[in-house]
Amino acid sequence: MSLTQTAIDILARNDRGGFTIPTAGLYPYQWNWDSAFVALGIATYDMDRAWTEITSLLEGQWPDGMIPSIIFRSDDPDYFPGPSRWGKTPGPIPSTGISQPPVLATIIRKLTQTCTPLDQTRRAQVFDAVFKWHKWWHDTRTVDGVVATVHPWETGRDNCPEWNIGLKAMQVAADLEPYTRMDNKHVHPSFRPSQEQYDKYLTIVQFGDSIGWDQRRLTVEGPFLMADPNLHFVLLRADKDLSAIAASLGKPQAILDQIDAWVAKGDAATDTIWNPDLEAFTARDLRSGRFSTGFSNCSALCFYADSGSPEQRAKTLDHMSRIATNVGFMLPSWDPNAPDFEAQRYWCGPLWPQMNYMTALGLSEQGQADMAARVQNDLCRAIEKSGFWECFNPLTGEGCVGNNFSWTAAVWLSWQHENKLKGAA
Ligand code: GLC
Repeated sequence: MSLTQTAIDILARNDRGGFTIPTAGLYPYQWNWDSAFVALGIATYDMDRAWTEITSLLEGQWPDGMIPSIIFRSDDPDYFPGPSRWGKTPGPIPSTGISQPPVLATIIRKLTQTCTPLDQTRRAQVFDAVFKWHKWWHDTRTVDGVVATVHPWETGRDNCPEWNIGLKAMQVAADLEPYTRMDNKHVHPSFRPSQEQYDKYLTIVQFGDSIGWDQRRLTVEGPFLMADPNLHFVLLRADKDLSAIAASLGKPQAILDQIDAWVAKGDAATDTIWNPDLEAFTARDLRSGRFSTGFSNCSALCFYADSGSPEQRAKTLDHMSRIATNVGFMLPSWDPNAPDFEAQRYWCGPLWPQMNYMTALGLSEQGQADMAARVQNDLCRAIEKSGFWECFNPLTGEGCVGNNFSWTAAVWLSWQHENKLKGAA
């Protein structure tokens, strides 16, 4: 069977009726940014179903505009922390109390790029919800002009060493309720975050629950507060795409002005996450001002967001060239020359399909065709060698953590489709 057919089959098998899970067993619910990438893949063969993926995600939106990282439409005893651990959340469907990188507007723009009457109807159908979510990031998660995160899980990069400074600065709650991890039962513990990290993740969850998930209080008073290049660049890019969507829909000037102000704010904040010692975009603890210490697979998203100075972009490419000589498969989630690199431990080293997708897109849009091709081809080679894994060892291309993974299938399909279109042109 061709890899393209295998990818379609994976997405069909992970379909739970209007929404798609990342992979059976390990992740049995709808995840926020996973669904956005899934829509991109399904759109290559079934646009109606792709659109349902997006609208089903929006069904979980909270009254304050937040779209949660996980929507719990059921309670699976095999998953932890499930709905009961997150407590009473104010959304229409039980969910987590944190969000995830807002790639949605970018993907909606891509899916509706031909602006046919049907595309415009679809854009109009979701515009208000997406606008409200972006407003939530700007009003509720922004501190001193830069978008912040309150939990490593919200960044989508759970145990990346980027978070070590923020996690070291916080204490595990003395009254942390006991719990049993389930992730280590599905996959080998060597792939997964450590126990101390897990205790801290749950300390933040317990704090959020204790304040009734008041999101502004969680940002300002919570145990963890860091700026993240992933959230920053993904939101900035998405704001730019939302601006284009708003203009195409003929939205009122006040809305267009509001989005433009977010873009200006975002572009101005790019310098806040420029680590002058490392000469790279890195995470930053917003309480101490300290930067994290490694180049990650989000550092190069400045291209995707079309932000940062020419010097910053040149330094970013220097780092990528250096790393490219050290690994067989670009782009590792953590610098192989930095402390805490581990080739197969989740966000401490493996390459991640959705990150390669965004990185390659940004590089090619900004005229860096060679590096874009390397990032794209390396993921394709890893898939050809090992299959549709959640992430891959950047030294060997072996698959890590979950197999038959939805976003890996989706990214593959999207690139194959683009290649076909290019071939036909
Ligand atoms: C892991 C990843 C996160 C992803 C989720 C479901 O938690 O770190 O980015 O959304 O799995 O695939």
